[in-house]
Amino acid sequence: MSASMKQANSQHAVLITGASSGIGLALAMQYVAEGYQVFACGRNAQRLNTIKGATPLVFDINDKHQIEKAAEQLTHHLQQDNLTLKMVILNAGSCEYINNPVQFDGALFERVIQTNVISMGYCLENFLPLIAVNGRVGLMSSSATYLPFPKAEAYGASKAAVNYLASSLRLDLKVHGIGVSVICPGFVKTPLTDKNDFAMPMQISADKAATAIMHGMQTGKSEIHFPKRFTYLLKLMSCLPSAVINNMLTPKADKA
Ligand SMILES: NC(=O)c1ccc[n+]([C@@H]2O[C@H](COP(=O)([O-])OP(=O)(O)OC[C@H]3O[C@@H](n4cnc5c(N)ncnc54)[C@H](OP(=O)(O)O)[C@@H]3O)[C@@H](O)[C@H]2O)c1
Repeated sequence: MSASMKQANSQHAVLITGASSGIGLALAMQYVAEGYQVFACGRNAQRLNTIKGATPLVFDINDKHQIEKAAEQLTHHLQQDNLTLKMVILNAGSCEYINNPVQFDGALFERVIQTNVISMGYCLENFLPLIAVNGRVGLMSSSATYLPFPKAEAYGASKAAVNYLASSLRLDLKVHGIGVSVICPGFVKTPLTDKNDFAMPMQISADKAATAIMHGMQTGKSEIHFPKRFTYLLKLMSCLPSAVINNMLTPKADKA
């Protein structure tokens, strides 16, 4: 990136939730490298403080009062440094699997929906009014939404809700000059996926994921999905009759 382009970005701000780890951390570092003023959000202040050149905003996305305070802090920074908020990327999230669907864990379900969806409502309430015209919101979903997966009742439902939220919000924000991208990654190597005990085909690095997201945000993509060879395969499979899909994806022991 040329010095003049970096200079042009220097009055542009981007807010990223979940910036203390994984995809969000890689995104924060890449936006800093491109000269943006990055507001890096998370609960872990120590990890956020290691992102050189970014401003940490420490808050829990599951606490609406903390989100309100963070928005006040952000407003102060934007005014003080005469910055334009160009992008808000709501990336923070968690993944928990329903290991015993017969004894369905309602509390787990609530936790995942709360962190991955409900929190977005409060973040939008507080951060949307601060986004400039021609700005863009990025909402983190997952390519898991293209097909049903076993044990993903909570995670998949939360991300499917994000897809609808993004599609609807896109229609309503167009007239206000704000774009909406939904982000659907395949497997990305992060602390979240390091916990998985199953095969994760075509997994990519967090750096590659961040590059794809930045490109999609920059070019105004409605849906940012990657790696393409993986996500197109899932999209193709999703066109099959549901009986075929169910047969393919039902865990072996449960088929009988
Ligand atoms: N990795 C993948 O393969 C993959 C694929 C599809 C979609 N995604 C999605 O991508 C997003 C990032 O995932 P990742 O893989 O980068 O995971 P990660 O390394 O575990 O990062 C999750 C981030 O979310 C933040 N977070 C979680 N709960 C929070 C809370 N209550 N309040 C504030 N921040 C919170 C964490 O920050 P603190 O701990 O500092 O609070 C952390 O920075 C998630 O939404 C995930 O569902 C990931």
